[in-house]
Amino acid sequence: MASRAKLKCFIIFASWCFAIATNPCQATQPSMQELLERDFLDDYYSNVVLGYRIVTETSQYAARYTGNQLSCKNCHLNAGTQKDAIPLNVAGMYPKWRSKNGVRNGIGLRIRECFLYSQNGIMPPENSPEVLAVAAYINYLSDGQTIGKPPEGMGVPTVAETGQDPNPANGKTTYDMKCKACHGENGEGIGPIPPLWGPGSYNLGAGMHNNSKAAGFIWANMPFGSGRSLSAQEAWDVASYINLQHRPEDPRKGPIAKLFDTIYTRIFSLIRQVKGKP
Ligand code: HEC
Ligand code: HEC
Repeated sequence: MASRAKLKCFIIFASWCFAIATNPCQATQPSMQELLERDFLDDYYSNVVLGYRIVTETSQYAARYTGNQLSCKNCHLNAGTQKDAIPLNVAGMYPKWRSKNGVRNGIGLRIRECFLYSQNGIMPPENSPEVLAVAAYINYLSDGQTIGKPPEGMGVPTVAETGQDPNPANGKTTYDMKCKACHGENGEGIGPIPPLWGPGSYNLGAGMHNNSKAAGFIWANMPFGSGRSLSAQEAWDVASYINLQHRPEDPRKGPIAKLFDTIYTRIFSLIRQVKGKP
């Protein structure tokens, strides 16, 4: 009798352990590497993987909505997983009020706006496969975050005010010394290193065109591999220098402004070609 009771106890205990071990709420997500190597993906994870591809190779996987050379991951570093580099594990923070467009934004609208401004492209429709896939990837990255609580290192850090106005002339000196070797003589980018201004860059409506956001991003992450090495003043100066350079028009200004901008850019690049500059 006693041994039967023990056996019963054991069976109950074992099934409890099994339930805990297989409880989907407790299961951790497979790593991105693991997902990329899988031969077969279910619908959910195939969408997550497409979102990852769009974030890392935007002009290839979301070509129809992208207007420049950038990929999301050029600013959302490490495919959106790096703190202080606008990480994308922010699903639990949306919907969220934004003064930029004066409405409460869902994550979908937030994604679409980065296509319009940062990617200097076209705003994809709300239910386009591209937006849904990036949203799935953002959900995947947000696993384990507390809903409504800003994840650690969200956005970019605030660089302290120095009491001096940002000085673009000093910013040029910093640019020439610490950025030019990678981002190019004219901010045009070199190979896989993205442009900082000119026709291949973000437009005048982008978040990066805000000096305090650019200074925060640059101070925390640039020069690439040596983040936090610039002084606060250097970060303000170089951000103000970059954001004074010519870049695509703010799409909110309408099609005429965009047309003039295209004509200007074409003539400008023709002159450069004639002069034999890159
Ligand atoms: C030129 C740099 C740049 C590129 C390229 C870029 N973004 Fe952004 N993104 C930003 C900046 C700057 C912010 C605003 C951060 C802030 O408000 O603190 C932002 C914010 C976001 C947010 C909200 C993050 C938050 O903290 O709430 C999402 C989501 C997002 N971007 C998605 C994308 C997607 C998807 C792409 C590619 C299709 C993309 N971004 C491309 C610079 C960029
Ligand atoms: C060692 C090469 C290197 C140096 C030096 C460097 N960067 Fe970058 N920068 C990169 C790379 C690479 C990326 C894109 C990162 C990625 O995709 O993972 C980048 C991205 C950026 C971006 C966001 C994307 C864009 O194109 O707008 C900004 C802004 C930026 N760098 C500014 C600077 C500034 C300012 C300096 C000098 C203080 C600097 N960088 C120095 C390599 C460099």
